[in-house]
Amino acid sequence: MPPVPRHIAIIMDGNGRWAEARGLMRIRGHEAGVDAVRAVTEECSRLKIQQLTLYAFSAENWKRPRLEIELLMQLLKRFLVAERETLVNNDVKLTAVGRLDALPSYVLRELELSKEVSKNCRTTNLCLALNYGGRNEIVDAVQKIAREIAAGRMKPEQIDEAMIFANLYQPNMPEPDLVIRTGGEMRISNFLLWQISYSELYVTDTLWPDFKAEHLHAAIADYNTRERRYGGLVDRLKAPAT
Ligand code: IPE
Ligand code: IPE
Ligand code: MG
Repeated sequence: MPPVPRHIAIIMDGNGRWAEARGLMRIRGHEAGVDAVRAVTEECSRLKIQQLTLYAFSAENWKRPRLEIELLMQLLKRFLVAERETLVNNDVKLTAVGRLDALPSYVLRELELSKEVSKNCRTTNLCLALNYGGRNEIVDAVQKIAREIAAGRMKPEQIDEAMIFANLYQPNMPEPDLVIRTGGEMRISNFLLWQISYSELYVTDTLWPDFKAEHLHAAIADYNTRERRYGGLVDRLKAPAT
C-alpha cells in the first residue's frame, strides 16, 4: 500500500447545498455531514493517519443567521456526546483549535469531557477547528510573543519561524500534507494559513455529506501522484519521467 499522508486537513463544505438540493432545511445538511465526519474519522484511524483536522466552524461563520448558528452548536454538542465512545473505540484522540472561549458553555463542557476521555488514544488525533480563523491564530501567536518581549523575557531578534510555530494553537501538530476541500470552491477560507504553506491541495465537487471512505481514498491516491518539491528540484535519476 502506498504511504499515507501524516496530516489531512479538510474544509468540510457543501452541507447547505446538499440540503437545498433535496428541498430540506440547511441544518439537515449539517446533520448529514456528521455521518461523513464519522466515516472519514474511522477510515483515518484504520489507515493510521496521525492527524485529521476538520474545519467545523470558522470565525467568519458567525455571520450566518442566528438560527443556523444555534442549530449548528446544538448539533456539535450532540456529536460530541454521541461519538465519544466510538472515538475511544477507534483509538482517536479529540482536540480542538480556535477561539474556543466564544463557544456556548454547553458545547465547551462536552468538548472538555471528550478531550479528557480520549486523551490517551494514540492512533489518530482528530482536531476540530471551532470558531477558528487562520488570521486570528497568527494574531494570537503574535500577542503571546509580544507579551514575552514586553515582560523582558525575550528579544525581538529571537523571533523566527520556529518561534511563531511554537506559539500557534497546537505547536505539536505536523503541517498538513494534504488539504481537501469538498463542495468545489477553490479557496482556503482562512483555514490554517501558517501551516499550509506547502500542503498539497485537493478540491472535489462532492458535497461534504456525500464524502465517504472511497472519496478519501481517491484524495489520497491523487496526493500520492504529487511531486513535493518545496522549492527545490527532484532527483530525476531517482524518479525518472515516463
Ligand atoms: C459547511 O457547509 C459547514 C459549515 C460552514 C458549518 P455550508 O453550510 O457552508 O454549505 P454550503 O457551502 O452553503 O453548501
Ligand atoms: C468554510 O466554509 C468553513 C467551514 C467549512 C467550517 P464556508 O462555507 O464558511 O466558506 P465560504 O464562506 O464559502 O468561503
Ligand atoms: Mg459553504
